Amino acid sequence: SPGVIQVFQENSGIFMSGLWETLKLAAITVFFGTIFGALIAIIKLSKNPLLKFITAVYVEVLRGTPILVQLYIFRFFLPMAFPWLNLSKYACVVIALVFNSSAYVAEIIRSGIQAVDKGQSEAAKSLGMSNRHMMMKIILPQAVKNILPALGNEFVTMIKETSLASTFYIGELMYTRTLLMSTKFYAWQPLIIIAAIYFVVTFVLSKGIQYMEKRMSVSD
Ligand code: ARG
Repeated sequence: SPGVIQVFQENSGIFMSGLWETLKLAAITVFFGTIFGALIAIIKLSKNPLLKFITAVYVEVLRGTPILVQLYIFRFFLPMAFPWLNLSKYACVVIALVFNSSAYVAEIIRSGIQAVDKGQSEAAKSLGMSNRHMMMKIILPQAVKNILPALGNEFVTMIKETSLASTFYIGELMYTRTLLMSTKFYAWQPLIIIAAIYFVVTFVLSKGIQYMEKRMSVSD
């Protein structure tokens, strides 16, 4: 059977478009995950006990069950619950991934804000600053240094987690294996190639995030 290099060369277009779909899926997920995660973080930091309880359950359930199980649940129950929306398979998968990511992002944002030294808010209050002003001018600018790198890591995590979408024949990088197996009958080469592509991409991104994190902490 042909070697890994040859299989890669002959099918590089398929692998690259798989990678592109993976990056798109992860980016969409983290983008909307960040919007919903921020909302949940705000509620978790607020004072309303009922809302706090609901968001705590939301986060714990989504973090306490596997993504794969969540994908199946959304894939099967969303179209049943909202038949008039005619949700596509892709939409169900994206919604499941966004829900999952939002729970992790909520914790990233909440802990990023709470990690800002208490002295900062005490000083702001002693100067008579309003809560809103303090949040905008003192707390958030510092919290961003904790939050941004963690969001970058969430993107890296989602690049790997979206491989589970291939279970539903969503055409991302992992799905190229199924594709090449059924069209060209390669047994093992795509697995090695796919693993190498995931590794290179996540390694480069992680190093970039580490670099950015260092640069941001210099200004402290
Ligand atoms: N693999 C784990 C799971 O299936 C981790 C999920 C991580 N998700 C995230 N959005 N960071 O539950």
